[in-house]
Amino acid sequence: TSTQASSLKNIIITGGAGYIGSHTVLSLILTRKYRVASIDNFHNAYPASLDRVQEIARQNLPENPTDDDILSTQVQSFKADLTKEDQVRSVVSSFGHGGLWGVIHIAAYKAVGESNEIPLAYYENNVSATLLLAKVMEEYGCHRLVYSSSATVYGIPPIVPIPEITKLDAMSPYGRSKVMSETILSDLCRSKPDTWKVISLRYFNPAGAHPSGLIGEEPRGRPGNLLPLLAHMAVGRIKEATLKVFGNDYPTPDGACVRDYLHICDLADGHLLALEALEDGSTVFDHPDGVGIGPKEGEGKYRAFNLGKGQGLSVFNIVDAMRKATGFDFQTVIVGRRAGDVPDLTADPTLARKILGFEAKHDLESMCRDLWNWQTKNPEGYTTTQ
Ligand code: WQD
Repeated sequence: TSTQASSLKNIIITGGAGYIGSHTVLSLILTRKYRVASIDNFHNAYPASLDRVQEIARQNLPENPTDDDILSTQVQSFKADLTKEDQVRSVVSSFGHGGLWGVIHIAAYKAVGESNEIPLAYYENNVSATLLLAKVMEEYGCHRLVYSSSATVYGIPPIVPIPEITKLDAMSPYGRSKVMSETILSDLCRSKPDTWKVISLRYFNPAGAHPSGLIGEEPRGRPGNLLPLLAHMAVGRIKEATLKVFGNDYPTPDGACVRDYLHICDLADGHLLALEALEDGSTVFDHPDGVGIGPKEGEGKYRAFNLGKGQGLSVFNIVDAMRKATGFDFQTVIVGRRAGDVPDLTADPTLARKILGFEAKHDLESMCRDLWNWQTKNPEGYTTTQ
């Protein structure tokens, strides 16, 4: 097949059709070093997002593209359920033994509140899928994994900005499913220090969209997250002008929760650095202060890194920025706290900068501008209703 003639590295991205997934697929394609396949069950994503990604990729082809350049713009999109062994095996086996270079595992359920209502679904979809994926990867000789973790693993952190050595103390089944998956992968690496290499990326709050306005955050149903909710209000998709602020009695500068927002394109590019860390010549796992997870930190080629800017912003800061970006005069009303919210999740970005070379460059204004550009160009999101 054409992949055998190619020098591109085959990568599977689970959740590749989602908000973070589609931007990550695009980042990999634009390096023209990878051939990307996506596994997605489209529970919270649209197949159309990958059509748009390929459209942007084609627009960015060089003058005289090589066969590999053209191949790299073609995303193989597999619709599959990661909790079903036969479906996972049929996708991974299609690359042959040793044909799959690595996997970026992003697919997960991710709503803190919902995870308290349906914990078993969260543990099945987030934990057993990770277990199954690692098992099938092992069978087909693939031992490189980038895992999508989250700041939510820190629970209520004792120190803010939060360093990676912070004890993991998640406060919801969703957060605990992330801690469990990190622990499983860390134990796997410790058991096979000469074969497995895993980088966990603890995402803070991604925001914005690719500047083309062709891809963006498009959750199914009413957005739970702040930024897409404000964008839906401003574009008239949600007929409300008043944001309910979930509490202003937190120990923060203006009483509202503080979060570390980073541009989705910076977050996506962070995955390129993680893949480079999995290359054979990488020294990432030699750093003594690289942070593992278990009692014997650093054993096994497992490392976890924060992906954030290191700048905390409150709900009111975000509302002000979105007023400027959209021209929409949001009102706010203070209501009760939301279960599971913690006062401040701001990253200490030092380790990711020092060891991965990660730097989230885009500022809040560009996040809001790119989000608004996506939303106004796609007032009803992705047009297909699949
Ligand atoms: C941000 C702030 C709310 C809506 C979420 C997921 C988490 C992770 C990151 C995956 C909070 C406040 C919100 C509203 C509000 N995703 N807010 N009124 O909670 O930091 O984390 O994204 O890993 O799993 O839960 O983001 O956008 O939901 O909230 O006041 O109508 O906005 O209280 O302080 P959060 P968010």
